[in-house]
Amino acid sequence: MARIIAFFNQKGGTAKTTSTLNVAAALAERDKRVLVLDLDPQASLTMALGVDVAALDASVYDLLLDESFGIADVTQPTGIANIDIAPSHPDLAAAEMELLNVLERERQLDNRLRQADLGHYDFVLIDSPPALNIISINILVAIRELIIPIEPHPLSVMVLQRLFDTLGRTRRLNPTLEIIGFLPTKVHHSSRLAVDMLSTLETQFPELALLPAIPLSVRGAESTAEQTSVLHYMPRSNVANAYREVGSWLIGDMAASESATVAEGAVNV
Ligand SMILES: Nc1ncnc2c1ncn2[C@@H]1O[C@H](COP(=O)(O)OP(=O)(O)OP(=O)(O)O)[C@@H](O)[C@H]1O
Ligand SMILES: [Mg+2]
Repeated sequence: MARIIAFFNQKGGTAKTTSTLNVAAALAERDKRVLVLDLDPQASLTMALGVDVAALDASVYDLLLDESFGIADVTQPTGIANIDIAPSHPDLAAAEMELLNVLERERQLDNRLRQADLGHYDFVLIDSPPALNIISINILVAIRELIIPIEPHPLSVMVLQRLFDTLGRTRRLNPTLEIIGFLPTKVHHSSRLAVDMLSTLETQFPELALLPAIPLSVRGAESTAEQTSVLHYMPRSNVANAYREVGSWLIGDMAASESATVAEGAVNV
């Protein structure tokens, strides 16, 4: 059965999109079949995978608003083998208002995923908007597992409280949701901010895992602009290898003790 995992953090710019893309690529490289769902009206993941948003016949907007659309109706292959995408569209920004009149508006994504035949996928990865709105709630209700990409920034730990409050409120609708843990992104291994954040997370959330950290690097910044993954664009870079480690971690063949370490010299490569 496909594992349904969201990369979620209501804080902007924590590398949700970059991580969804590159973890998908890392899993695809290991012969896993991946469906990525772009649930952000910014459509960054859709564009990063080379999809022409202006030419789309159907997107996740139709999926959420029109019961006659199923996942398969909005899904298309990408240029990367083993990765399909259900693309986003800027119209999705209007879904917030339009869903107000829909019965069970928090469950639209959940319903579509339950109705879909996901048998030919190993993973469904969801890219989320930087918001706590009705689309975000749809994601939190529909997923089985949650990964929180987090960057070393003074605000990062502070905003987590609102996220956990929201998770507390959605738990009734999704009692089996498993919060896997934090994916530290844009980590400069010698920076005080990063060291402090990692130890704060370990102390405050001992039950949550710290996934292999992604180093700060211009390669990470460039890959989405190159309309491919960093694993294809810069296959031997530290960022590509870090995302491969996350893929291995998810597949389950990496020792937990290796988590949250940054490869030596993984700075600004
Ligand atoms: N490892 C990295 N090192 C340096 N920059 C990075 C890295 N990963 C991502 N970035 C850059 O950080 C910025 C934010 O990344 P991204 O768009 O993936 O974040 P996001 O959480 O999806 O943002 P939003 O909240 O707007 O959806 C982008 O400019 C991206 O290129
Ligand atoms: Mg994004």
